[in-house]
Amino acid sequence: MLSDLQKEIIALKEEKNAIILAHNYQSKEIQEVADFLGDSLELCIKAKEIEDKDIVVFCGVDFMAETAKVLNPDKKIIIPDETAECPMAHMLSGEQVIEAKEKYPDAAVCLYVNSLGEAKAEADILCTSGNALKIVNSIKEDTILFGPDTNLGDFVREQTDKEIIPIPGDGHCYVHKKFTEEDVSAAREKYPNAEIIIHPEADKKIQDLADAALSTGGMLSYIRNSNKNEFVIGTEIDMINRLKAEIPDKTYYPLIKEAVCETMKYHTLEKLRDCLKNESPEIIVPKDIAEKSLSAVERMLEASK
Ligand code: 13P
Ligand code: SF4
Repeated sequence: MLSDLQKEIIALKEEKNAIILAHNYQSKEIQEVADFLGDSLELCIKAKEIEDKDIVVFCGVDFMAETAKVLNPDKKIIIPDETAECPMAHMLSGEQVIEAKEKYPDAAVCLYVNSLGEAKAEADILCTSGNALKIVNSIKEDTILFGPDTNLGDFVREQTDKEIIPIPGDGHCYVHKKFTEEDVSAAREKYPNAEIIIHPEADKKIQDLADAALSTGGMLSYIRNSNKNEFVIGTEIDMINRLKAEIPDKTYYPLIKEAVCETMKYHTLEKLRDCLKNESPEIIVPKDIAEKSLSAVERMLEASK
């Protein structure tokens, strides 16, 4: 049953000819009014396909909304709370990428989509956790500067012959860093019939203890196709709401309840309603940054087909 506020948002969305895109970590209430839910890659692909809408409302963190803007420079992209930043993206500056390129002139630069616009503008190609291995293997150079997530870099390194050099070297997600070996052992003991699925932003030693390391979109398809019925989910807590809505006949347990991405939750129904009403705050990406990063985004979309 939708609340009055949710109904008001849906009516406003229709009146404004808007579409709401939301990341899998959004709250249940926001997931319920979204037109499209997905992981970073799915949201990029969807953003590129939007033709018939005047406004895109993006419920996710800054780098995701900016990528949607880069793919749709002429469309109005709005965000309920413009301060919703991904701290990991802010761990790598454009200047640091330039310095790394000077140090390794023969290397290609592959950046996680969780990067600032100024860093993406210096990249050859982007990747998400859903396509990182495929993207890295599609690069012709043997040495790859990879950042900002060191754990995703470790995940890729283990599965490729390419040399992966992390930049800046200590980039990480504070949410996925919370998972410990003890959490995995406790979950194994408590839920002996469950499979443990972890996001590749978790430390490599935690990924290794799990049954699978997957992007949030990858988790959804893995679980849909699995003959198991119980899963321990090692990612942000609201992913479980997406799973319950899509695959309600299976059972999910959070690896830890404290895995909350605080900035993802800055978006509330009230802010979503107001942003639709006022058609602001709007995502603005400086023209030079947008133009320079577009080729890296498009190269990723092409290589991940
Ligand atoms: P996904 O692309 O797997 O949804 O990951 C995005 C993210 O920020 C994970 O923390
Ligand atoms: Fe960034 Fe981590 Fe939040 Fe994902 S979960 S948006 S990587 S802080």
